[in-house]
Amino acid sequence: MTDRECVELVQWAAPRLRLRWEGFRRVRGQVCKRIGRRVKALGLEGVGAYRARLEVDEAEWAVLDALCRVTISRFYRDQGVFDALREELLPELLSEARARGEKEFRVWSAGCASGEEPYTVGVLFRLGLAQGFPEFRLELLATDADEALLERARRGCYPPGTLRELPREWAEQSFTMTEDGEQCLSPGFREAITFRCQDLRAEMPAGPFHLVLCRNVAFTYFAPPLQREVLARIRERLVPKGLLVIGAHESLPEDAVEFERASGARPIFRKTSH
Ligand SMILES: C[S@@+](CC[C@H](N)C(=O)[O-])C[C@H]1O[C@@H](n2cnc3c(N)ncnc32)[C@H](O)[C@@H]1O
Repeated sequence: MTDRECVELVQWAAPRLRLRWEGFRRVRGQVCKRIGRRVKALGLEGVGAYRARLEVDEAEWAVLDALCRVTISRFYRDQGVFDALREELLPELLSEARARGEKEFRVWSAGCASGEEPYTVGVLFRLGLAQGFPEFRLELLATDADEALLERARRGCYPPGTLRELPREWAEQSFTMTEDGEQCLSPGFREAITFRCQDLRAEMPAGPFHLVLCRNVAFTYFAPPLQREVLARIRERLVPKGLLVIGAHESLPEDAVEFERASGARPIFRKTSH
């Protein structure tokens, strides 16, 4: 399958999956490879035959949908974002929660991959924030559409390269190296985190949340009308002045007036009250 054939297939299929082709432009290499393997595994002659198959086989759309998921992640991805959360934004948010008499710090990681993002928040809370907010308990819900990734997340063991950006002293305190060279998160850092299989296009946890991370999923791959829907539903689930973090290369839909930037040009947004 040529690049052009693959691009045409993804462009044709994306709207039906409520996705947008532009999101895949940079990462299409891996998606096209997977689709190519699928076409072969089905014993089909090429992209035309695969398209014909999709026209008559409803179930194949779910397979294609899964092939289109990009699953790259790592701990403390976009350092500046986590630094700003720890140094400034979360202390502010938790102080306000404290003033309201709250004792739970409620977080949702949407599109959590193998757990790198939610566990980063877990480590950050315990080693970077809990001392100043000892009465708070972290309640973190992490969702993803891919059950195999969630299984890996629940296992909590990673190749060491994934931890490269996590501050070294935190990595030393929260992980132990196994005999076969994997880094496994210590049990105390997992307790507060629940993993749940959910397709963000169809369902969301109830909330309310102080912090939502929705990075490198909805605002890259979803079609614009769906992006607006997802954003509105995230907003409903945030507490007043709650924070939304998106990916470093993403932006919110243009008419998202109900959010303001919370930390300069960083991709962190605060829910406004109007
Ligand atoms: C590129 S990873 C991002 C991981 C993490 N948020 C980060 O930024 O490092 C995108 C994740 O979103 C998940 N995903 C894709 N489409 C989804 C959907 N419709 N609902 C829930 N998760 C989805 C993928 O399975 C993948 O784990």
